[in-house]
Amino acid sequence: MEMGTISAAYIASAILFILSLAGLSNQETSRRGNWYGIIGMAIAVIATILNKSVDAYGWLILATLIGGAIGARLAAKVEMTQMPELVAILHSFVGMAAVLVGFASFFDPANTLTGTEATIHNVEVYLGILIGAVTFTGSVVAFGKLNGKIGSKPLLLPIRHQLNLGLLGLSILLGWWFLSVGHDGGTLPLIIMTLLAFAFGVHMVMAIGGADMPVVISMLNSYSGWAAAATGFMLSNDLLIVVGALVGSSGAILSYIMCRAMNRNFVSVIMGGFGTTASSDDGDQEQGEAIAIQAEEVAHLMGDASRVVIVPGYGMAVANAQHAVSDLTKQLRDKGVDVQFAIHPVAGRMPGHMNVLLAEANVPYDVVLEMDEINDELGDVDVVMVIGANDIVNPSAMENPNSPIAGMPVLEVWNAKTVIVSKRSMATGYAGVENPLFFRDNTRMLFGDAKDSVDGIKSSI
Ligand code: TAP
Repeated sequence: MEMGTISAAYIASAILFILSLAGLSNQETSRRGNWYGIIGMAIAVIATILNKSVDAYGWLILATLIGGAIGARLAAKVEMTQMPELVAILHSFVGMAAVLVGFASFFDPANTLTGTEATIHNVEVYLGILIGAVTFTGSVVAFGKLNGKIGSKPLLLPIRHQLNLGLLGLSILLGWWFLSVGHDGGTLPLIIMTLLAFAFGVHMVMAIGGADMPVVISMLNSYSGWAAAATGFMLSNDLLIVVGALVGSSGAILSYIMCRAMNRNFVSVIMGGFGTTASSDDGDQEQGEAIAIQAEEVAHLMGDASRVVIVPGYGMAVANAQHAVSDLTKQLRDKGVDVQFAIHPVAGRMPGHMNVLLAEANVPYDVVLEMDEINDELGDVDVVMVIGANDIVNPSAMENPNSPIAGMPVLEVWNAKTVIVSKRSMATGYAGVENPLFFRDNTRMLFGDAKDSVDGIKSSI
């Protein structure tokens, strides 16, 4: 394929990726956005393969078959609740790819650049490997934390800030050494930096507590974008630069939104330590007694209510209860009850987790409201039904300054007349913090798997 045609294909792909991002920002256009992304990526891959400089078709076909088979199998097998960890491990692939391309580009015998061009190329190689290595190990640890193989408690080494600063200083010194010796003696500083960056990635994410994981995921998403952009510079591939920058900047914006949603400062999240342990007050406090309720009574309460708000959380995803919840919504609406959903920005385990589940279960978009849109109205609601959510409805975030989640905006469900909490036990949520909501006078606990509980309510209505 001629260079001109390839450039045209790349421009078309870049436009499709931008349209895709725009489409994905709204539930109603998200399917279309997804298609734009798929078509854009197909055009990009085909144009790249048909580039004249590509001739190892045998290897390409073999790698595509192996990678495609593994990807298809994983995609078919993965549960909705495992999506965040899948995303985390996919970020690690981008990181590792940037490291490998960086080394390949450095050792490439066809590389005959000299002078300023060589220096610029070496800076690209160095940064690409640095960001890629941090992304790789950081994402692997995030994967472990999300699937529970690594505990969600932060690892707080006594000298962690000094360690981070030391690693940063060493990376700068090694970069200076690498650039001054160039191609001839640069292998050693490059390898040392890579090992340090691997260690930094592990330490950075190990130091971040469970409650801050949403920010970590979007931050690693952003890093993987910048790693791809650096790879694009190394390979002089404009499309990779554009795509990397799109992923990098949208990930950074998402991290900012997450931080705002959790009232957290981005730098302090990266420094780690949030969500360490529940405050000492938490365990000692006299919590009173939780009052249990049965599905039939909940059905009566909901059937008699004029306004019901459902707050879904991670447990709804675990129980796969979204279809039952959608049916219940329809049943109640048919009876004339006004039913709405309140979505917390960090509900579940990935951005938009609840929106995706509700859309999959065909819940109408117009009854699904963001936290800011509905929080002030919860006092006028007859019944709030919390389904498998915990941290996002914890009043101690507002009332207990010593709580590890103090300051995080939460859905103020306790203002409603009655609050029903559907969960299996009195266990804490992801942040490991006790929840005083369960002991409030107007709260009733509906114990059991969320799907069974909702099915029970449905049949009683
Ligand atoms: P959580 O606080 O994790 O609470 C979920 C609750 O669901 C648990 O307390 C659990 O209680 C219950 N549950 C689990 N399986 C269930 C089932 N089969 N049936 C009924 N209930 C079930 O969830 P949340 O309120 O959605 O808050 C999200 C948390 O995850 C926040 O701390 C957030 O920071 C963190 N996080 C979010 C993200 C993103 S991007 N959204 C990413 C990583 C972490 P039982 O065990 O008693 O049933």
